[in-house]
Amino acid sequence: MNATPLTVAVLGPGGVGGLIGALLARDGHRVVCLAGEETAAALGRDGLRVESAQFGDFTAAVEADTRLREPVDAVFVTVKQTSLEQALDRVPPPALGGALVVPLLNGLDHLRLLRERYPSAGVVAGTIRVEATRTAPGRVEHTSPFVDLELAAPLDGFAEQLRHAGLGVTLRSDETAMLWDKLAFLAPLALLTTRHRADVGSIRSDRRPELLTVLDEVTAVARAAGAPVTAEAVLSFFDRVPDTMRSSMQRDAEAGRPLEVDAIGGAVLRAGAAHHVETPVTARLVAEVARLTAREV
Ligand SMILES: NC(=O)c1ccc[n+]([C@@H]2O[C@H](COP(=O)([O-])OP(=O)(O)OC[C@H]3O[C@@H](n4cnc5c(N)ncnc54)[C@H](OP(=O)(O)O)[C@@H]3O)[C@@H](O)[C@H]2O)c1
Repeated sequence: MNATPLTVAVLGPGGVGGLIGALLARDGHRVVCLAGEETAAALGRDGLRVESAQFGDFTAAVEADTRLREPVDAVFVTVKQTSLEQALDRVPPPALGGALVVPLLNGLDHLRLLRERYPSAGVVAGTIRVEATRTAPGRVEHTSPFVDLELAAPLDGFAEQLRHAGLGVTLRSDETAMLWDKLAFLAPLALLTTRHRADVGSIRSDRRPELLTVLDEVTAVARAAGAPVTAEAVLSFFDRVPDTMRSSMQRDAEAGRPLEVDAIGGAVLRAGAAHHVETPVTARLVAEVARLTAREV
């Protein structure tokens, strides 16, 4: 049990948000999940159910609402980018006040949106490394033996509380470097596996020239944006992940769900344009993936 319980809201209690909310609630924090009516009703009734390779199976009681109505210490924003704008209506700026806002979405551009919308709040850039799937409202399957957050702020006390609940937390001092470390790997992975309907092993062997070109483009944009990322370092990581690895964008495409292609690929193109870096192959892949429909996949 945590000695100094926090009140934490989770906007979008799916794979990522459900796991974080359940771990915090299990550790004695007050967790308020913000969701649509049906999901909020299920969570209020049954709590969050986690089946986890790392933590075992457990159920945690949480509160649930369709809107934030009272002050909280922190809000984790864990919706997908495709539903972000709509979901933020559940968090009125006056209710949020000066709370910490921790978005864990993939991509870059949500940070500006959140900072414009919540000027009094402390919006902290975050990333997460995990494999967690929402299998039904309030039910999460956590299949990776880790759940690792990076936060770009000197939040030692907050990080310690998250670690106590079971989360891995690294604090970073450079937001741009942190975000691009993730995106420089994720964008090529997501675009190539989704476009070619192939796992990493096939991309590495059958599509290597295209992989190398995309890595060159994306890391050139990252460096122009101020992140010390090299194509060699990302390729070396790419070459070490398991052959069977697939991307969540690929799984979303197969299931006919909306794709975060704008958040992940579009963000690279926008940053490239802003810094005058050419990204023709990445642009083609973004366009091709954006055209995919569930029927075509
Ligand atoms: N899952 C992973 O392993 C993983 C790993 C790294 C990064 N990420 C990133 O984390 C972010 C979240 O991904 P995820 O996989 O956790 O997504 P997810 O499982 O689809 O969960 C999203 C949640 O948002 C909720 N939601 C949708 N529209 C909403 C609205 N208008 N108001 C309130 N809640 C709303 C959904 O509610 P319902 O339950 O009612 O549908 C769902 O619970 C994405 O940017 C993803 O790229 C995910």
